[in-house]
Amino acid sequence: MKRGTDIAAAADVLRAGGLVAFPTETVYGLGADASRDDAAAKIFAVKGRPRAHPLIVHIAGEIGDWAREVPDAARRLVAAAWPGPLTVILKRGPQVALATTGGADTVGLRMPAHPMALALLRAFGGGVAAPSANRFGHVSPTTADHVVADLGDDVDYVLDGGKCDVGVESTIVDLSRGQPVLLRPGGMPREAIEAIIGPLAAPDAAAPAAPGTLASHYAPRAEVIAVDPDDVPAAVRAASGKVAVLAPRSAFGPWGPWGELSVLAYPLPDDLAGMARELYSALRDLDTAGVDVVIAALPPAVGLGEAVGDRLRRAAGPRKP
Ligand code: TXA
Ligand code: MG
Repeated sequence: MKRGTDIAAAADVLRAGGLVAFPTETVYGLGADASRDDAAAKIFAVKGRPRAHPLIVHIAGEIGDWAREVPDAARRLVAAAWPGPLTVILKRGPQVALATTGGADTVGLRMPAHPMALALLRAFGGGVAAPSANRFGHVSPTTADHVVADLGDDVDYVLDGGKCDVGVESTIVDLSRGQPVLLRPGGMPREAIEAIIGPLAAPDAAAPAAPGTLASHYAPRAEVIAVDPDDVPAAVRAASGKVAVLAPRSAFGPWGPWGELSVLAYPLPDDLAGMARELYSALRDLDTAGVDVVIAALPPAVGLGEAVGDRLRRAAGPRKP
């Protein structure tokens, strides 16, 4: 494994069918040539991800080169949102390898906003299939150190672009079947999308299954218990082992509601963007600190709070009966 900032070297690795971890504004991706079955297959092997779970294709060029049909709503949405933390699901164009989409006839497309990601895509000249650069089911990486800790020598090149700005994955909208459906809340708030294309429906039974929507995902080693802020004290009293509370900084102050609780406090920024940016490194830090139970306060489900709440609930896994 090599680590650095050499875009040309990273693009060469992609051309040779190898794996490049690269920064995006959301989380680090584990990239390979999206048009090659053999390259995409390496991603599934390294991640330990089931082969039927489709990968997002990152592009820097024309959306029409990668999808068979681009409905008007998709055009308007990407014109406003790209480059940025939004993935649209459309009908798969012929240059996308079937292994990349897990055999599906649709493809997830996204133009990332990180300058290093865009530079890599331009230098490579094609689409880059990339899931988050972590082992399947684990917490997504938001620094190059996280990637190295998770994947080490299984990656050919790690492009180091510092810490990710957004901190949670892209919002995924399915536009391949008429009515736009929100498959995964993420870095672009629902409200911003609905202002452009109107109401987003919830996934129905016919919606494509997505691993990021499995009940248990984005999970650290510690047990995570996600509760409304009012229920934090009771959850702390009921927990045993080394317990930590993950909540906005203002909740812990001397006048905060839990000032008197004797637990490890992990303060997050009070604003939702800051919370999203720090969430995954907080979960990794708490694992490193040997915490057994993380009691996490759920933010209000508005703006980026919808994605933060979603990730906390999935980190918590299916509710125990
Ligand atoms: O922000 C992000 O989206 C990051 C960065 C690296 O771009 N990527 C990411 O990828 O989160 P991953 O593989 O961890 O999650 C991709 C999600 C999965 O839930 C997958 O099922 C869904 O996108 N997806 C991709 N293609 C799809 C398709 N054709 N139909 C339905 N879901 C799709
Ligand atoms: Mg992921």
